[in-house]
Amino acid sequence: MAARRHNKSARCVSWLAHLAILGLALCISLSDAVDRSNFKTCEQSSFCRRQRKMEAEQSPYRALLDTLDVQENSARVQLLNAANKVRLVLEVVGLKDGMVRLLVDELAPLKPRYRVQDVLVGEPASERLTVVSREEGVVVLAWGGSGGLGEGPGGARVLLSAQPFRVDIVSAGELVASVNSRGLLAFEHLRLRGNTLSEAVGNTVGSMWTKLKNVFSRKESEESPGVDEEGAAGSDSTEAAAEEGGGEDDNGSESKVTEEEDEPGMWEETFKTHHDSKPNGPASVGLDFSLPGVEFVYGIPEHADTFRLKTTTGSEPYRLYNLDVFEYELDTNMALYGAVPYLIAHRPERTLGIFWHNAAETWVDISSNTAGKTVFGKMLDYVRGGSEVPQTDVRWMSESGIIDVFVLLGPTPNDLFRQYASLTGTQSLPPLFSLGYHQCRWNYNDEDDVRAVDAGFDANDLPYDVIWLDIEHADGKRYFTWDPNKFPTPLDMQRNIASKRRKMVSIVDSHIKIDSGYKVYTEAQANGYLMKNKDGRDYEGWCWPGSVSYPDFANPDVRSWFASKFAYDQYEGSSEILFTWNDMNEPSVFNGPEVTMHKDTVHLSGWEHRDLHNLYGLYQQMATVEGQIRRSGGVERPYVLSRAFFAGSQRYGSIWTGDNTGEWGHLRVSIPMLLNINLCGISFSGADVGGFFRNPPPELLVRWYQAGAYQPFFRAHAHIDTQRREPWLIGADNMALVRVALHQRYALLPFWYTAFYRAHRTGEPVMRALWVEFPKETATFAIEDEYLLGDALLVHPITEAGSRGVSIYLPGPGELWYDVHDHRKYEGGQELYVPVTMSSIPVYQRGGSVVPRQNRPRRSSECMHDDPYTLYVALDKAGRAEGQLFLDDGRSFAYDTDKRFALRSFHFSNGALVASSADPSGSYGTKSWLEKVVVIGVKKPSHVTLKQAVSPSESALEFEYDAATATLEVRKPGVNIASDWTILIQ
Ligand code: NOJ
Repeated sequence: MAARRHNKSARCVSWLAHLAILGLALCISLSDAVDRSNFKTCEQSSFCRRQRKMEAEQSPYRALLDTLDVQENSARVQLLNAANKVRLVLEVVGLKDGMVRLLVDELAPLKPRYRVQDVLVGEPASERLTVVSREEGVVVLAWGGSGGLGEGPGGARVLLSAQPFRVDIVSAGELVASVNSRGLLAFEHLRLRGNTLSEAVGNTVGSMWTKLKNVFSRKESEESPGVDEEGAAGSDSTEAAAEEGGGEDDNGSESKVTEEEDEPGMWEETFKTHHDSKPNGPASVGLDFSLPGVEFVYGIPEHADTFRLKTTTGSEPYRLYNLDVFEYELDTNMALYGAVPYLIAHRPERTLGIFWHNAAETWVDISSNTAGKTVFGKMLDYVRGGSEVPQTDVRWMSESGIIDVFVLLGPTPNDLFRQYASLTGTQSLPPLFSLGYHQCRWNYNDEDDVRAVDAGFDANDLPYDVIWLDIEHADGKRYFTWDPNKFPTPLDMQRNIASKRRKMVSIVDSHIKIDSGYKVYTEAQANGYLMKNKDGRDYEGWCWPGSVSYPDFANPDVRSWFASKFAYDQYEGSSEILFTWNDMNEPSVFNGPEVTMHKDTVHLSGWEHRDLHNLYGLYQQMATVEGQIRRSGGVERPYVLSRAFFAGSQRYGSIWTGDNTGEWGHLRVSIPMLLNINLCGISFSGADVGGFFRNPPPELLVRWYQAGAYQPFFRAHAHIDTQRREPWLIGADNMALVRVALHQRYALLPFWYTAFYRAHRTGEPVMRALWVEFPKETATFAIEDEYLLGDALLVHPITEAGSRGVSIYLPGPGELWYDVHDHRKYEGGQELYVPVTMSSIPVYQRGGSVVPRQNRPRRSSECMHDDPYTLYVALDKAGRAEGQLFLDDGRSFAYDTDKRFALRSFHFSNGALVASSADPSGSYGTKSWLEKVVVIGVKKPSHVTLKQAVSPSESALEFEYDAATATLEVRKPGVNIASDWTILIQ
């Protein structure tokens, strides 16, 4: 959301703010697309330019294998840069469950380098390392698997080659990834400005220089704030290294020190009118990975681009830098609001992940070399299929920090989801209401407007759960307050919404209006909680309210203070049905470089913003979640939507894809965008239904509702300048279509909720690419216009105007798929052309699955709490099916703290549908009963009987059979949905 969006709504900002914003607006193109000149290319980002200039196969690094120090669970070895004689330390950690962690830091940095905090859920569990062999410049380390020798499931071997330095990762006897195989390890060591002197006067001075640096290094490390004890990897050997540092090679003989030449951009950088003072000079890191056998890579959201990542040779790398991009374009790998530096490679035999644990600006290059690479003699034992294999090369480049990278070895997609979840956590379990439909607009003008919109849903028999208030609801964009004229009685307004068993969300952006009469600002300022300029004064920027400051959410005290603002006595006019939307938290700074915060802004810990930019939004969401949990005394689950995100954001709520446009292409791209976001752990994600900018034609709006009903976060939203588009304003016929889409969403809420529970417990994504369920079926690898929900429903949204039909790929030869609308049966492993009407989008239930629904249309999800269930049992070719249903109160943590939940399992085989508990550790009583069972793909029975665990007698059940679709409807079994029973179909 850049300056041009600052329009009517923001007219109340001071004239000064207007002038500045207007000035900025003039610099921005008046075209309807993104103004690319506002955002850096790799060439304009000096570290990216420097790294991209490096040539492959010329690595100056050599591993000094005689420094190998194998501890219980990790091995350290020094890497020597032959040119500048700087030593790095590589640490290899063998993690449990098939993961490898590689850390690279300077052996003796001038001062500690930033290490990402708060993203990992804990210290990953490691395994005992064994040195398997050590000969001819190659050390083989192993862990896990049978006997700890790295063979078999969960084990791995790592081969460290000295020269050229390279790490090969072998799993189950197969080379799965090679690190630095193209020699693109980059590690700009911290230095003092002007040290090219060393090169000019030769190695004696070079050696002195290194000693001097080490004096600094010791001094500054002692003084540097906010650094943990591990700040400098290998610091135990710092002294020794300093002694033998630059000027000598590892054999002690003199050699020439060649420091990189200073280049423009190393010590300061200017982009447009913005100056970056770069007090630490060049500090970037980079590393390449070669993935033999891999042709398909995914992930590294957020980009408005294809699901399958493209190669970047000759074009821009993918950029990961959280930015507020105004009117973003499609088919580009420019950075957007969120960043997850996690890439997933998939081939039929293995799914593999690379998690680059770095929160600084990052670029990712991808190239593909089907010619393969020759693998040197030592490796041949491990290589599958010789040297001529397809290969994808991935190269990560980050502006600062250290190299801290996890290679997740899979081998199955579910293994990978579990592994990634063990590092960064799983999706938090959303309160049930948040899986319903959300009605949003910038802005609902006042309390009357809110009342009228809410009543409009009831009058038109449209369900919805949450009405949203954008920035205009607050008094002068002072979040946590209410505009006294437009929203004078917020508690009454919320009481009315609550009486409908609905909820409300208000926006709380990351910036704070600078205003001595605004308590939130004065407290933050007085406590020293605001981000600082490099000169120590509070950092100021421009955003919606005019002149603003930014809390340092990275600081735990600041988060705790911010959380306290959600207490009912602090956030006056808030109630327990009011939840939160964190927006503009990249952070957006209208007058900042690339519309964000200056990189040399300083956090309270002393770290530069540069080091952790991509984490800022996650930290705000974390603080907001803490606030909501606290206000309920730890009882209620929070609900917070954030625009910016990073790895781990899944633990805090939902995210959305920001300011899209009401055009068909934006509806289309929502699928690949959400698929990549889901693959990277963040299941609770969606796109603005209807598109934020512009006025979508009714057909598009209807199609978007139909698609959104089958995407995890389902919210309509629109820019303040767009025409009103509540469903009753788009014509009766269109509204009727929207109603059907909403009813479809609500009927499936039990299925959604169960899918989220599974995501919460296992890390499996809710919205899945087809290959996740059909990993060997190469035909699915590039599909991005359809997807699966859980493992049971296949959804193909309609994303073209005037569509009369669509080609659909039904995966899995030997599988069956049933159209959910008419129960017609289709074979898997084929592409079908399916006629479509406006009434709905194609959705298929997989043979072999059981999908629970609640079919009674209600006002909101809360009204459905005790409603009965219908089970849809779709049989596979063997006449089997299974599925689950998760039940709890839908809102509290009791499912976890008191085990007040039921996870029901439904299993059909040999004509018997058996209901039992899938997790006896939970217990939950419900009034809901089973009103119907629909078995699809079954032979006509002669009788159907019910047996309940609680009584020995059997009772006959009424049923109907439709021979055309082989569908049996069993009426009113009447059993409690949480009880054990069997229905026999004979
Ligand atoms: C930017 C957000 O992306 C958009 O959804 C919101 O309406 C505006 N900010 C105003 O708050």
